[in-house]
Amino acid sequence: MLDEEEIPKQWYHILSDLPKPLPPIIETETKKPGPGIVPLIFPKEILGQEFSKDRWINIPEEVRDVYRLWRPTPLFRAVRLEKALKTPAKIYYKYEGVSPPGSHKPNTAVAQAYYNMKEGTERMTTETGAGQWGSALSFGCMAFGLECTVYMVKVSYEQKPYRRVMMELWGAKVHPSPSTKTEAGRKIRKENPETSGSLGIAISEAVEDALTHKEANYGIGSVFNHVLLHQTVIGLETQKQFATLDDYPDVIVGCIGGGSSFSGLSWPFYYDKVSGKAPKDVKFVATEATACPSITKGAYMYDHGDTARITPLVKMHTLGHDFIPPPIHAGGLRYHGIAPTLSILNEAKEVETRAYDQVEVFEAARLFAKTEGKIPAPEPSHAVKGAIDEALKCKETGEEKTIVFLLCGHGHFDMQAYDDYIQGKLPPYSYPEKEVQKAMKKLKALYPWLETLPY
Ligand SMILES: Cc1ncc(COP(=O)(O)O)c(C=O)c1O
Repeated sequence: MLDEEEIPKQWYHILSDLPKPLPPIIETETKKPGPGIVPLIFPKEILGQEFSKDRWINIPEEVRDVYRLWRPTPLFRAVRLEKALKTPAKIYYKYEGVSPPGSHKPNTAVAQAYYNMKEGTERMTTETGAGQWGSALSFGCMAFGLECTVYMVKVSYEQKPYRRVMMELWGAKVHPSPSTKTEAGRKIRKENPETSGSLGIAISEAVEDALTHKEANYGIGSVFNHVLLHQTVIGLETQKQFATLDDYPDVIVGCIGGGSSFSGLSWPFYYDKVSGKAPKDVKFVATEATACPSITKGAYMYDHGDTARITPLVKMHTLGHDFIPPPIHAGGLRYHGIAPTLSILNEAKEVETRAYDQVEVFEAARLFAKTEGKIPAPEPSHAVKGAIDEALKCKETGEEKTIVFLLCGHGHFDMQAYDDYIQGKLPPYSYPEKEVQKAMKKLKALYPWLETLPY
């Protein structure tokens, strides 16, 4: 166990260590590199971090002070899971479910709220799917005395009232999205009154709210560079914990929605690798849902981060900005895009990617709960499945590898999904390839000049 003083004092930024420079953001109006609305919705310090080539960025003492409420987070060895699998591998997991909102998301929410408070923002706006990110930002805003407005994807707002209550308890205002509060929400409701909502739609609403109100800024829970940067406290702590065990991972596994938890654990180990400090050749494995296969089936293309196309174009793996996940999908990880940095690492084959369907994911989660006790959130259950598969490979080969995965949240608010799984109501589902092709065709028709960009 580490003590509080070992909470990292700096975050690690990957931008100067990427195999290729990050392609610039493109504005659709000018068809040229430019930040679009980005500078209008974030504080200056966050903007600086987004594009910073500094490798190490100081964590403000006020942020570390809030981190102390739950950090350092524990690194456990899953001995009972190893026994059940009869594997010679050692399986470790870093557990972020001990944070007040129950996931890794407050690592960045607290930092974003802090910088906004310092620069005079009175209110933050955001979107949330299942409620993990919305509750993290509500918590972060509460810690620094800011108001918080959350646009929550309608289907979750209706099916997951307890996450909403949690946000309200910490002082946030929560609206089901699409809502009547924004132009984007009203337009989508008119076009499709029955819509269950999506993260892309909720992002449009939250961004519009911030753009149209002077006192407000927007906060985002994944994808952007500064978010992934803040999450590196996870990997930096894990490195210290492995040093006390005199061990080092051969395999690092994380799930990917937008890529923040996976990057938070893996970036510091990637830095060890590129700086020649890694004692071993580490394999990085990113797992996602077959229902939302952004990295395994998505195109590496310029696309918008939101459905109403308010945000500028970024180059990333994408299923198309108007992707709506199938309502039968209970496994989380529902965003259409992937962090541009992770997309680059994937293109450079620095990361191995795998997609799992929700039945195999919940099966893995059940085995984990029965052996280790903790009930994982559906999202990191994809990482549990990835780690189990790696351990089973070791069983075949007899290799005594060290595997670490990120259990980035607990599933205490996901009992409906677990109940559906137990009752056999969750079918396996794979998003069809042809839907991705259709979305890409639409995108190219919308911006015929996209393919002439030199990036
Ligand atoms: C607990 C948990 N893990 C993982 C994710 C996926 O996001 P990311 O890939 O940014 O970690 C989410 C998304 O909301 C989440 O709530």
